[in-house]
Amino acid sequence: MPENDLPRYIGPETRNRNHKMTSEEIKRRFDNETAACYSRRRPAWFMEADEIFAAVPELLAPYLPSGSEFLDLGAGTGNFSRSVMERLPGLRAVLLDFSPNMLSGADEALKGFAGRFRKVEGDFASADLGVGLYSAVISSFAIHHLRSEADYLSLYRRIRAALKPPGAFVCCDVVAGGDDFLTRRNEDEWAAYLKRQGFSDDDVSRLLSNHHREDSPLALGAHLRLLGEAGFSTVDVVWKKANFAVYIGVVGEGRTMDGNGWVRRT
Ligand SMILES: C[S@@+](CC[C@H](N)C(=O)[O-])C[C@H]1O[C@@H](n2cnc3c(N)ncnc32)[C@H](O)[C@@H]1O
Repeated sequence: MPENDLPRYIGPETRNRNHKMTSEEIKRRFDNETAACYSRRRPAWFMEADEIFAAVPELLAPYLPSGSEFLDLGAGTGNFSRSVMERLPGLRAVLLDFSPNMLSGADEALKGFAGRFRKVEGDFASADLGVGLYSAVISSFAIHHLRSEADYLSLYRRIRAALKPPGAFVCCDVVAGGDDFLTRRNEDEWAAYLKRQGFSDDDVSRLLSNHHREDSPLALGAHLRLLGEAGFSTVDVVWKKANFAVYIGVVGEGRTMDGNGWVRRT
C-alpha cells in the first residue's frame, strides 16, 4: 500500500461490543490484519512517529554496541526494530510476537538485515525470555494488551532477568492519564491528531472504540513504580505527548528500589 494513501482504520468494528477483548481475540485480529500496513515509515495513527523513531536509537546507543543483540516484544512486522537497526550499525534482533501473520511481514520490512534477525512466535504475557541474554529489550505499541498491574510486573521481571547489565528496556506505547479526566483529555488530543493526519470522523471513532476494547494502558507513574519493583535501577520518561510516551528502565548502574523507596546499590 503506498505510504501516501489517505489513512483509514484497518482493525475490527468494535463499537457494538462492550467487553475487553480476550488474548485469543487480539491474536485473531492481528492474524487477519494486512500486516504490511504496520511497516509504514510513518504509521498515521502513531503520534509523532518521526520524533519517536529518532529518539529511541539515540537512547539505546550506549547499550547497543555493534554486534550486540536486542529483543523486540510484540514486534509485529519489525517496524520498530528496523528504525533501530537503520541507525545503530551491526545489531542483531529477536522479534517476538504471537501472530505468525504479523511476523511474516518482517522478511520484507527487514530485508536489508537478512541473517541478522530471528522471528520467535510466542506470547509476551507468559513467555520465558531467558536470563542475561540481551543488551536491550524494546517494544512499541504492544504491551498495552496486558490487562493488570500484576501482568505488567510479571513482564517487567522477565525483561529485567533477560537483560545483560548494563542493559536497557525502552518502551514506546499508549499510556493512561493520571486520572480519568487526564486520560480523556489525552485521548481527545490523539483524536485531533488523527483527524489532522486525514482520518475521517467515523474512522477516528472506530479507532478509539477499538483502543478501549483491546487495550489496557497504565499511567506512567504505575509503569515507573512497577519497573522499580521489578529491579530496574534507573527509570525515566524520555518523551511524552498526549497519550503516547517513551519510557526507559536501566539495569546495571546507579540505584535500585526496594519496598520503601530508592536505595543505593550494594
Ligand atoms: C499494534 S501492533 C505493533 C507492532 C510493532 N511493534 C510496531 O510498532 O509496528 C501490536 C503487535 O503486538 C502483538 N501482540 C499483542 N499481544 C501480544 C502478546 N500477548 N504476545 C505477543 N505479541 C503480542 C500483535 O500480534 C501485534 O503484532
